[in-house]
Amino acid sequence: MRLVVVSNRVTIPDRHEKATAGGLAVALREALERHGGLWFGWSGVVGAARQLRETQRGNVTYAVTDLSEAERESYYLGFSNRALWPIMHYRLGLTEFQRSDYMGYLGVNRRFARELAGMIRPDDVIWIHDYHLIPLAAELRRRGVTNRIGYFHHIPWPSADTLTALPFSATLVRTLAAYDLVGVQTRLDARNLVDCLVMLCGAKFDGRRVRLGLRETAVRAFPIGIDVEAFRRLAAASVRQAATPLRATRESLGERKLVIGVDRLDYSKGIVQRLEAFGQFLRSHPEERGRVGLLQIAPPSRSDVPEYAELDRMSDEVAGRLNAQLGEFDWTPIRVVKKAYSRTALAGLYRSAQVGLVTPMRDGMNLVAKEYVAAQNPADPGVLVLSRFAGAAQQLGEALIVNPYDTHEVAEAIRTALAMPKSERIRRFEALYQIIEASGIHWWTRCYLEALAGEPVAAEDVE
Ligand code: UDP
Ligand code: G6P
Repeated sequence: MRLVVVSNRVTIPDRHEKATAGGLAVALREALERHGGLWFGWSGVVGAARQLRETQRGNVTYAVTDLSEAERESYYLGFSNRALWPIMHYRLGLTEFQRSDYMGYLGVNRRFARELAGMIRPDDVIWIHDYHLIPLAAELRRRGVTNRIGYFHHIPWPSADTLTALPFSATLVRTLAAYDLVGVQTRLDARNLVDCLVMLCGAKFDGRRVRLGLRETAVRAFPIGIDVEAFRRLAAASVRQAATPLRATRESLGERKLVIGVDRLDYSKGIVQRLEAFGQFLRSHPEERGRVGLLQIAPPSRSDVPEYAELDRMSDEVAGRLNAQLGEFDWTPIRVVKKAYSRTALAGLYRSAQVGLVTPMRDGMNLVAKEYVAAQNPADPGVLVLSRFAGAAQQLGEALIVNPYDTHEVAEAIRTALAMPKSERIRRFEALYQIIEASGIHWWTRCYLEALAGEPVAAEDVE
């Protein structure tokens, strides 16, 4: 068998990148290396030349294609990120639908299918990732591809009632029947997705598989994980070596405690609400002023989408207002840093922070929550405050679970976390660590690929 991975973004590794690339990229690369494989998708480049470019790294071929400006506008910025992203994160008010964007989305999926179909061999297993490429399998089937094809949806799947607000949602959902296996992050996502197939498309469900026309599709939850051991080592090493950003942060903190947030600058992450909650915490507990600071790392994301540009402005405004109202001449309560940091730097920062504040309004899984736990010093761990609307909350019940819409609740959770006795911190940390270790990224790729190949997966391993 050869593995073919398809995703909107493909990053071709250079010789040194392996240590710094994200867990998913590394895990998929390892699976590709194990089986020999092909990784196909967008090069990240916008240009007129749209021929495929192939790069060989060991037994893995990377085949990438550019998008035209019109394709980027309609397929990527438009339908994927102004329609599908908000509606899948339950944000109907932010959902912007244009027919021309949808046509562009279908057009890119059709073109990808045309280019990919010619490269498929009879023994290939095809694994397609994320919401940009939902109709890709249907387009491949139309071109005669009969191989096993799986899809993994990294973001939440909303209720049928929510999704029907999206024009053409039934047509889009129906294309899922072209897959042999559809994987989602949580049981709730699986239930919602099955409901959509049943209610919008008239599919039948037997408790495990969905039947639509002549096709049968398995729908299962596979909560994605991280490479826990690699991250733990990175964090320990980063503190030992006192890497520069870490040393500077520690020096600037002095004896003060650190609360950390790390998120792409995305409205699904609840960054503005989190800043407000930190402000509320300082107002309710004035004795904490000057003793603790919030560091929010928020690398810009999708900045050509207007709703993201608005969030960029709002977050500056809220942080500025709270700092002006609550800060002192020798203490700034909130620092928002809008750039990306290496995983090594993040690992060290997580380990230096007494509280990890992960409060998305909705999130498919949220890997930062798992990374924060993996990075802690087992002898003196920090406390994770986690939104109940992150997929990770389904597994990480020993975190302090909060409703991010309730500013007071989040403020009090910050207070509880900062005051928590060491014995309780250790107990919670150990429970959380055990869970992330038992369901790491290698377990995830193995379970998914075994299920896609039709091999039995230990039922208790999968939610
Ligand atoms: N990340 C990073 N540098 C940064 C901020 C984030 O490498 O400056 C990484 C982070 O370590 C995590 C990923 O980006 O692995 C974010 O994954 P998550 O599931 O939390 O959210 P997503 O961005 O996929 O919605
Ligand atoms: C989330 C999505 C990914 C996406 C990533 C970064 O993790 O699930 O599919 O690649 O965000 O977003 P971007 O638009 O920059 O690819």
